[in-house]
Amino acid sequence: MFSWWTGGGEAAGLDAMIAVFAETDPNIEFINSAVAGGAGTNARAVLASRLQANDPPDSWQGHAGWELIGTYVAADQIEPLNFLYDEEGWLDVMPDTLIPLISKDDNIYSVPVNIHRANVLWANPTVLDEAGVEMPETLDEFFTALDTLQAGGMDAPLAMGEQWTAEHLMETIFLASLGGDAWTALWDGTGDWEAPEVTEAIENFAKVLVYTNADATGLSWQDAGQLVLDGDAAFNIMGDWQEGFFREVGSAPGTGYIWGPVPGTGGNFQFLSDSFVLAKNAPHRDAAIAWLTVAGSSDGQDAFNPVKGSIPARNDADRSLYGEYLLSAMDDWASDTVVGSLTHGVVANDSWKSELETALGLFLGDQNVEAFQMALAAAAAASPSQ
Ligand code: GAL
Repeated sequence: MFSWWTGGGEAAGLDAMIAVFAETDPNIEFINSAVAGGAGTNARAVLASRLQANDPPDSWQGHAGWELIGTYVAADQIEPLNFLYDEEGWLDVMPDTLIPLISKDDNIYSVPVNIHRANVLWANPTVLDEAGVEMPETLDEFFTALDTLQAGGMDAPLAMGEQWTAEHLMETIFLASLGGDAWTALWDGTGDWEAPEVTEAIENFAKVLVYTNADATGLSWQDAGQLVLDGDAAFNIMGDWQEGFFREVGSAPGTGYIWGPVPGTGGNFQFLSDSFVLAKNAPHRDAAIAWLTVAGSSDGQDAFNPVKGSIPARNDADRSLYGEYLLSAMDDWASDTVVGSLTHGVVANDSWKSELETALGLFLGDQNVEAFQMALAAAAAASPSQ
């Protein structure tokens, strides 16, 4: 079984689900082939070479949305799982939002284990108190808060890590600038990448970057989170796996860290979902199906998610097992406008995403707003087939 959950809250979540599997299927050996690196940057490259060499893991982690449909389904690398959905009655408990994102031509291709929220602002409450700064709710309030913190001597009040975390930051600032409908329209072909609103979104992103740490490229997402816990930064924008990390290192909600939607994105839940697939010609097909059965079960999901920092994909969670943050995420998931994440595979296929990432790499170096917008528009125009 292949994933990128090797540490910092993530491995602990996976281990909790493996423990359920060990109870339900004591005779099956679980081989954990996880490859380290946040957001799967390294793991997905290793997976691609294994698939190319005809050496697939039995089951692997893939994001619901275009990552799944545009890559593994398009390349005919995974089996439809409708039979398992029928056997387990999953269509009754999985959210309607999710099924189309993991389906093609009435075939369902994966088992979602969770829903993560991407647009979360994490903050150190002591740092904010000392600076007299409130949790910002709009982009303007955010910039004012960052200015106040900087004026008070904190050079980099917003902690950031390696490039994918900059992409993550970018998508949340785009959502804040554009709003949910216009964000979604950029991906479904009805939006205009050359519009002045996109220019403004890029400008806001450039402005936010000014407050980030100079050593970002050398830091993981956990390192960036640690800067907030240590009071070396006030804020971090990261998916809610960050809470899994905060809890794992012993920090407590409310006193160690607080949270809110990324300023300007309140009422929107920018989501992603980790799901597991069944390889075509899986070397141990029955064992893989046993794993997928646990991954889709309420026992598996209620063991995994409270530790991982996500809410279950299933809608019948035992709420008593979840902490304060995750309960708030469950409520928001049920009431907010749901929009997809770019960095974590929902809205764009891999080739579109990789064009964007090349453009982003240049932008992080030169901050050329016009060139970046042209490159984003060109990447969209080159991806009409999605
Ligand atoms: C995401 C994944 C999350 C978490 C995060 C950081 O892509 O969906 O589960 O692992 O990367 O590694």
